[in-house]
Amino acid sequence: MLRSNEAETEKDIIENEFLTLTRKFIASGLKCNDIQKALQKEGKKRKHFKSKALGIILVVNAILYECGVFHCIVNYAIGIRCLIPNNYFVWEATRPVSDCSYCLKVAKPIVLPNLTQEEFAKYAYSSKPLVIKGAFLHWPALNRFDYYFFKELYESVEGSFESVDQECQFLHFKSDFISIRDIFSMHEDRVRNLPGQKSWYVGWGNCHPKVLEKMRKYYEIPHFLPEDCELSSKEYVFMGYDAGATLHLDFINRLMWQAQLKGSKTWYLSPTPECEDVCSSFSFLVEPGDAVLVDTRIWYHGTTVKPGDFSLSIQSEYG
Ligand SMILES: [Fe+2]
Repeated sequence: MLRSNEAETEKDIIENEFLTLTRKFIASGLKCNDIQKALQKEGKKRKHFKSKALGIILVVNAILYECGVFHCIVNYAIGIRCLIPNNYFVWEATRPVSDCSYCLKVAKPIVLPNLTQEEFAKYAYSSKPLVIKGAFLHWPALNRFDYYFFKELYESVEGSFESVDQECQFLHFKSDFISIRDIFSMHEDRVRNLPGQKSWYVGWGNCHPKVLEKMRKYYEIPHFLPEDCELSSKEYVFMGYDAGATLHLDFINRLMWQAQLKGSKTWYLSPTPECEDVCSSFSFLVEPGDAVLVDTRIWYHGTTVKPGDFSLSIQSEYG
């Protein structure tokens, strides 16, 4: 058995080597998605790859978790900290292999007009990408929500910032922000994305009861969702400019709904790598007031905001 100072040295060596590899990996322009795809493709080729990969990943993950390294690497590399905590690679490598029926002959979303609960019932659990045009045009949030609404809200509710850091999630994507405090303390020119300013796009979960209570005065549970569906206890806000969210899978328990409230956003969907030979990637545009429903657990998804637009959306889950 290693003595404690020897163990420390071993740990430092492993940590330094992994950090060096990670820096090279990020500097090369690769994304975590590239590793995920490589893992999945190898999994198709070699029957026992997953168990071998899992063994290696579990060991590396355990070491890095112990060192507190994995969290910051994942945070830095893909911009998703707590939604995808310390086990992102393990989840990706161990998720069930898709049977591809969810994406066969799907080359665009089903676009529907605003509809009732009864009309929506047949689509509710289909896992097909859906856009419901104008579904939320009646929400007061459409006009009321902007950067300043959330700045004022967070600055007025005691413990709201801490709730995001400690109980909820902050997603910095490609921005240089590391916490929700950075969002609400940035210079006015950057808030407005004026020329010369670095553009930004972030998301965060809202789980402070008072924050949720004040937000929910301006919107309701989507009227078309099944009466008896299970709902999440929190809602996410996504806002910003340009690049949007990088391509990823969500490791969540239910289906996702998103309300596009400000700006126009393009969604990019890609099937899981094991289905790439039989399914297609595609993109579609959503506009203010539209609902987007995607099974983000099986569709890789990313977004970009229309140049010049400020995008703001609310997202949650149902199942
Ligand atoms: Fe997502």
